[in-house]
Amino acid sequence: MNVEPVKAKFAELFGSDFSIYTSAGRINLIGEHTDYNGGFVFPGAVDKGIVAVIKLNGTDKVRAYAFDLGESAEFGLNEEDKPAESWAHYIFGVCREIQKRGGKIGGFDTVFSGDVPLGAGMSSSAALESTFAFALNELYNCGIDKFELAKIGQSTEHNYCGVKCGIMDQFASVFGKQGCLMRLDCRSLEYEYFPFDPQGYKLVLVDSRVKHALVGSPYNDRRASCERVAKVLGQEFLRGATMEQLDAVKDQISEEDYKRARYVIGEEQRVMDVCAALEKGDYETVGARMYETHWGMSKDYEVSCEELDFLAEVAKACGVTGSRIMGGGFGGCTINLVKDELYDSFIATAKAKFNEKYGHEPMIYDVIISDGARRLE
Ligand code: GLA
Repeated sequence: MNVEPVKAKFAELFGSDFSIYTSAGRINLIGEHTDYNGGFVFPGAVDKGIVAVIKLNGTDKVRAYAFDLGESAEFGLNEEDKPAESWAHYIFGVCREIQKRGGKIGGFDTVFSGDVPLGAGMSSSAALESTFAFALNELYNCGIDKFELAKIGQSTEHNYCGVKCGIMDQFASVFGKQGCLMRLDCRSLEYEYFPFDPQGYKLVLVDSRVKHALVGSPYNDRRASCERVAKVLGQEFLRGATMEQLDAVKDQISEEDYKRARYVIGEEQRVMDVCAALEKGDYETVGARMYETHWGMSKDYEVSCEELDFLAEVAKACGVTGSRIMGGGFGGCTINLVKDELYDSFIATAKAKFNEKYGHEPMIYDVIISDGARRLE
C-alpha cells in the first residue's frame, strides 16, 4: 500500500513528526464460527491492511481523518463522547477499551487508510482496531500484552459496534507472521505457527462483491443458537461436544439450533483433519474438508448466499482442490486452494460464469501471508 498520500494528508492537516503504524486483514483456511464456541481456528494475516499516521496532540481530543472516505471526526475520550460517524466507533471503542484496562491515554491526531476490501470477509474492522490498539499501547507506554490488544479489538466490536464476534480476526491481525498460518485454540488461547507454503498450489480469494455487514446481522443469532445448545448440554462452549451428545438432546432444542450445532461439531473435526493433513502434505484432504465446510455453512449454518454457493460449484467443476465461503458469511469471498496449472483457467472461468449469471465479475485477490500489527516508521 502506498503510504505517501496518507502522510501528505497528515502533514496538510496536522503537521510533521508523526509515527506510522499498520495492521493486517486476515484469511482463514478452516475453522469458521468456531472461535466463539471455544474451538480452533486457522487464520493468517495478509498483505492488505490499515495504515495509520498518528501523533499525540497533548489535548483530550482525538481528531481523525478517514482518508478513503474523505471524512473527519473529532471526539473526546469519555463514554458519552461516542462520535456519530460509524467508522469512528472503531477508534473510539479502542480508546475506551484501553482506558477500561487502566491504560492512560490522551488525545491524538490521525489520518488512516486501508486496502482490505470492505465487506469481503477479510476483517477490515479488526485491522483498524488492531492498528490503533497497537499504536496507542506503544505511544502511551500502556504495557498491555498482545493478547489483551486483540481482546481490546474484540470488545470494541461487542461494546461499540454491535457484533458479538469471537477472537479470531483480532488475534490474526495482531499476531500475524509472514509465511505462517496460526492454529489458535480459542478456549485456552494457546497457539502455534504453521509455515504455509504448499508446493504446487496457490491460495486465491474470489470476491463475489455481495457486501456483507455483520452489524445487526444474523451473526449474533448464530452465536445465540450455539450458546443455547451448549447450555442444554451443560457445557460452557459447544467445543468438545459430540454428535451423540447432540442427538441425545435433539428433542429439547429447535430444529434450527440442532442444525447450527451440527455444523459447529463437524467443523471442529474438520480443523483437526486439516492440521493432520497439512503435516503430511496431503492437500487433497485439506481441499475436501474446505468443500465440506462450505456446504455446512450453506445448508446447516445458513450463512452463505446464492452467489457464494455458485462460486463453490464453479470451483468444483473446474477441478479446484478446495473452495469455501470465508469469514462470517452473508456475502464476501470464497477461499480457494488451486493447483498452479489450473489457476489461470479457473480464474477465467469463474469470472466469465459469474459475470454471465450475476452481471458483474468477481474480484480476485492472491493471498500473501504477512506480518500483523507493527510500527512502520
Ligand atoms: C467473523 C468474526 C469472527 C469469526 C468469523 C467466523 O469474522 O469476527 O470472530 O466468528 O466471523 O469464523
